[in-house]
Amino acid sequence: MKIIICKDYEHMSRFSADIVIEQIRQKPDSVIGLATGSTPLGMYKELIRQYKKGRVDFSKVVTFNLDEYLGLSPDHPQSYHYFMFNNFFNHINIKIENVNLPGGITAYNLDGVCREYDEKIEKAGGIDLQILGIGHNGHIGFNEPGKKLYTQTHIVSLSHETIKANSRFFDHIDEVPRKAITMGVGGIMRAKKILLLASGKDKAAIIKKAFSGIITTEIPASLLQLHKDILVILDKEAAKELK
Ligand code: F6R
Repeated sequence: MKIIICKDYEHMSRFSADIVIEQIRQKPDSVIGLATGSTPLGMYKELIRQYKKGRVDFSKVVTFNLDEYLGLSPDHPQSYHYFMFNNFFNHINIKIENVNLPGGITAYNLDGVCREYDEKIEKAGGIDLQILGIGHNGHIGFNEPGKKLYTQTHIVSLSHETIKANSRFFDHIDEVPRKAITMGVGGIMRAKKILLLASGKDKAAIIKKAFSGIITTEIPASLLQLHKDILVILDKEAAKELK
């Protein structure tokens, strides 16, 4: 595991965008795992900027998003589908048929949908580069802390902490969906390379716990310490509690 400390959020965003661009230069048909949330927004902005300058070509890139709420239609402004198109896909030359998001409101055969998602990732050759954020409770994707973690894509009940954290995007906490579909920890760990981003002082405590040397399902991100090619990119604030 390698940890890079950047001076601020902008630096972290540029640094991570450069890694994505280099990945695509080396393998134009890269399979990239994507996250939503506030953290990667700057990276997406930077990737769009670099695309507009002609420095990166997404025409052969395939993407798989980590997770999606259950019960929100793809055009709901808080759905991850909407987030990804609004903040990234609509501004680059990715082919719509190469974009994959799990579940969605139409997913009624949920077990089948989960299995198909994992099969699709496998068929695409597996994820070359997985982008991750981290929840304040250590979740990755929507793999919440608990006694056990799931390897495959599955349905989760969101923890109270996550519902509260995500309520900042909704008018009222009651509007936050209680369930989501997420890639499992196994799917994440199978990615050839992982890039975990964290920014801000409110992430400092969980960064310390997740990467301190102890591995526990109560802090799902701690399992990433077992991955052989993971780069943790932090800004100074998020790195504050690391020694
Ligand atoms: C989102 C996701 C989540 C977020 C995490 C951090 O697709 O998988 O695990 O990465 O909740 O969210 P932010 O970046 O908003 O702090």
